[in-house]
Amino acid sequence: MPRHSAKSSCSSQHDGARAERHRHDQSVFHALLAQHAGISRSVTEIPGGIETVTRAAGPELVALLHDHVQAMERRMAEGFGLRHWDPAFVEIFAQAEQVRMEVELLPDGVRVRETSEDPNVELLIRTHGGVVSAFVARGAKAAAQASPLPEAYRRVAS
Ligand code: HEM
Repeated sequence: MPRHSAKSSCSSQHDGARAERHRHDQSVFHALLAQHAGISRSVTEIPGGIETVTRAAGPELVALLHDHVQAMERRMAEGFGLRHWDPAFVEIFAQAEQVRMEVELLPDGVRVRETSEDPNVELLIRTHGGVVSAFVARGAKAAAQASPLPEAYRRVAS
């Protein structure tokens, strides 16, 4: 069933809450991009995907990182996408049901394991790990560009 079929007052309230959440999520990832120099990250390949450890300098930046990762985990579970102009993001939301995401909050950051049993989705997860690393390395300059998908990846979104 389409998510927003009926325009009752109830669904308008729901739309308003989602718009507010999106504004919040946007302000958080813009702040992370602006302060990318205070963030470090390692990505380890594991069977089926990646394990990442991302650390931030100072409690305010750590709080933003915790907020972001939990918000993105929730959006993946709901299929509440973003960056609809960027194929790698369109695909990760289209494949969200095939992605297992385990988040462990650390005092100074976050450890995330992302895996899939589907080798095509595994390739997408590894690509995404690289996209987040580019955001950490280059901030808004990296986020202004679309994230290339590897040629071997088979797209599922139209
Ligand atoms: C310096 C900036 C950023 C940092 C430090 C950051 C950090 C993270 C981390 C740690 C994860 C968990 C997965 C992983 O470790 O690879 C993640 C996932 C995610 N982030 Fe960010 N992020 C940043 C910018 C952004 C931006 C600009 C967007 C979108 C506009 C975004 C959207 C997402 C989404 C959709 C996920 C869930 C899907 C996935 O895991 O690939 N992030 N981010």
